[in-house]
Order: sequence, then C-alpha cells, then structure tokens
Amino acid sequence: MQKKFVGGNWKMNKTVVEAQKLARQLADRLSDVDFADIAIFPPFVDLYPVNIILREKESKIILGAQNMHPEPSGAFTGEISADMILSTGAKMVVLGHSERRHIFLETDSFINRKVKRALEAGLKPLLCIGELLEERKAGKTEDVISQQLKGSLKDVKLNSADDLIIAYEPVWAIGTGVTATPEQAQEAHKFVRKVISEMFGEDIAKNLRIVYGGSVKPTNAKELLEKVDIDGVSVGGASLDADSFESIIRDSNIAS
Ligand code: PGA
Repeated sequence: MQKKFVGGNWKMNKTVVEAQKLARQLADRLSDVDFADIAIFPPFVDLYPVNIILREKESKIILGAQNMHPEPSGAFTGEISADMILSTGAKMVVLGHSERRHIFLETDSFINRKVKRALEAGLKPLLCIGELLEERKAGKTEDVISQQLKGSLKDVKLNSADDLIIAYEPVWAIGTGVTATPEQAQEAHKFVRKVISEMFGEDIAKNLRIVYGGSVKPTNAKELLEKVDIDGVSVGGASLDADSFESIIRDSNIAS
C-alpha cells in the first residue's frame, strides 16, 4: 500500500513574507496528516525561508523546487544547481513541467540531463509529462506520453520506485479550469505504468507513484484520487490558498 502524494506547485507566486505565511498555515492545519505525503514547491527565493518555518513547526511537509539546471556549477547566469536546492532544505524538484517545455522550450534530452543530475545529487524528481490539446485531438496522446517518458528517462537507473514521481499533466487542463475526466486520467495513467514497466520492470512500475495534474480543485480531487492508477495529485492554482489545498489533501485519505 502506497500513500497518496499531494504536491502544491506555487509557480511564480508568493513573496518571502507571503510564502512564510502560507507555509505556517499549512504546517499548523496539516500537522495531523500522515495518510498522505504532502509537498510544496515555492519559488527558489522562498525555499530557505519556508524551510525555516517548516523546521520550527516540525512539519512533515516536504519542500521542493520548481526547476534546476543539470550542471553542478558554473557560468549559467540566473540558474540554480541541485546542491543549491539541497542546501535550502528542499528534497524534491519539479522537472519537465509543461510551462518549462512550452514557454522556455525545454526538450526531453535537456530534461533527461536534469533527471540524472537530480538523482545523483539526492533530489527526488517530480517528472511532468503530458500532451497538448491538438495532440489529443489527433489521437497522439499515447505517442507523446511514450516519447516524453523514453526521452526524459533515457539511461536513468532507478534503485527503487520511490526514487521518482511522475506527474501526468495534460497541457490542455493546466490553469484552464478544464480537468481531464477521472476516466481520461485513469486511461493515461495506466498507459504510463505500462511504459514504465517496459523500461524499468514490473516491480518498479507497480509501486511508482503516478499523480495527476491540471485544474485539480476541491470539487474534483476525490473522484480523481479514487481511480486505481492515480496515486496522487499535483495542484497549481488551488495550492495557493490554505483552505483549498487542505481540502484536497483531506480528500486524499485513500490508500493507493
Ligand atoms: P493548475 O496547475 O492546477 O493551476 O491547473 C497544475 C500544474 O501545473 O501542476
């Protein structure tokens, strides 16, 4: 039995003071939660100040960054390394988010370098994949998912299913208010598990958590989380408010 994973991606929101306030609210409200793994992904500048709050409150909330550069150090103005992220107290990193792929033109091979570096450094990736609306309409969803998984996980060695979490985030559902139906999400998750099984074997595929992202809200989280291959959710907009994020977390009290 696996605990569900609920991640909150704050994207480019919250100043240091605002981030500390939300972290304090979440730590206070969620101190009893041990049925799910909860992670928050604030902007880089908020990581260390948020970690101070989480440590003060002895919170089990996991801290993660939203991106990372694959090189360990060097002349990469504006970029952040795995070791820098670890030094703030963060333990996870979002890689391959659709906003990175589509706005910042990140490719699978660049994301692949990041995944390898994160694992080597001891950061757990939340690797995002997902198709565009025109790809879904053209019947290419499985091809896109398969290509993204094979490209971003090329030559990656996993020691256990817990090394990595995959987020299936259909691009047409992110920030649009349109959520994939639980059936559409379940079908895609089942396919992701099949590709992971081909790449890493059945044991890892069975236990690796595959979470859904894209307009997850308190009103739709439960029906998604009840599906057999949906091991959690990745929440953007609704994670910026303590009430809605808490409500989604309370709905994840279902074993996977
Ligand atoms: P959203 O973002 O919940 O605001 O749609 C989801 C995501 O990007 O993970």
